[in-house]
Amino acid sequence: MDHEVTEFEADDETLSALPQNGDGDVETTLRPRKLDEFVGQPRVREQLELVLESARRRGVPPDHVLLSGPPGLGKTSMAMIVAAELGAAIRITSGPALERAGDLAAMLSNLAPGDVLFIDEIHRIARPAEEMLYLAMEDFRVDVVVGKGPGATSIPLEIAPFTLVGATTRSGSLTGPLRDRFGFTGQMEFYTDAELELVVRRAATILDIPIDRDGGAEIARRSRGTPRIANRLLRRVRDYAEVRADGTVNREVARAALEVYDVDELGLDRLDRAVLNALVRSFGGGPVGVSTLAVAVGEEPTTVEEVCEPYLVRAGMLARTPRGRVATAGAWEHLGLVPPPDSGRPDRSGPTLFDQG
Ligand SMILES: Nc1ncnc2c1ncn2[C@@H]1O[C@H](COP(=O)(O)OP(=O)(O)O)[C@@H](O)[C@H]1O
Ligand SMILES: [Mg+2]
Repeated sequence: MDHEVTEFEADDETLSALPQNGDGDVETTLRPRKLDEFVGQPRVREQLELVLESARRRGVPPDHVLLSGPPGLGKTSMAMIVAAELGAAIRITSGPALERAGDLAAMLSNLAPGDVLFIDEIHRIARPAEEMLYLAMEDFRVDVVVGKGPGATSIPLEIAPFTLVGATTRSGSLTGPLRDRFGFTGQMEFYTDAELELVVRRAATILDIPIDRDGGAEIARRSRGTPRIANRLLRRVRDYAEVRADGTVNREVARAALEVYDVDELGLDRLDRAVLNALVRSFGGGPVGVSTLAVAVGEEPTTVEEVCEPYLVRAGMLARTPRGRVATAGAWEHLGLVPPPDSGRPDRSGPTLFDQG
């Protein structure tokens, strides 16, 4: 199947994810290509299968699909799979690249019938482009404005029926009208350890890395529920295995390697621990606002919010409350500290049980 990839505008995140060492090509090599190669996400997979199969039977492009979830869970891979399963070409762009509505108009009017248009980070799309997208998604039409000032006219232009696949790390910041125009939203969840073991084993086979069961399990367990991280850790453990051991990845090698790379028992990395440390040690466990927390660790609030927090929440160490972020007892314990008696209560600076008595 030829997936024609035309435009790809790299934003900062993409650029920072680019290979310094050839790992980036590896990501492409490791991408699952078919729905049944895709490990995990049983719900999203089943739902998508239905959407795609029914569209296929009716001979029409499927409804627009929104994929949402933290980075590295397989949204981009899934978007490509959608196109592959449909036998369609995929055009790739991203929200931040669509600053001017004209850029989007050009892309839309170049679509062939049945194409998949993939917009990554769709929540970051600029307003004029977003408004153009409404009409395109609903009526397969764009209004092209010709001329300037009072003489300007808008000419409706038909575009080919297509399927939009949007990906977002924060579906909450999509506007209502945009969200409503997707016929299906797939919510990607963190992977279980067992699923990640499969991801690791699959990658080890593709990359020809000798690994035993325990080695795979150890890497899976410390991958923050995230296939991208599992694959990355596998490559770093492989490096260690080759340089400091006999090349085979087993539990002992995995443990030793992950210690070198600052990945702790629970898979938390340096930034995760910095966030927990700041929350617990500098802010007494919270509540504290996410931007304050971000400043304390020298990161962008969006990074803390979209990259660190989802996993810390799921690991039961951090709670998001209306008043700010709060460390749970588990967070204190993970840092080797004794939690205060009321730690992790959403309203811990409000009235306590004792106050009410
Ligand atoms: N379900 C999966 N099975 C196997 N590998 C996966 C899966 N999901 C993601 N990956 C791996 O993780 C990497 C990152 O996935 P990607 O689709 O780019 O995530 P996202 O777009 O959500 O950030 C891929 O290159 C692929 O190697
Ligand atoms: Mg992606």
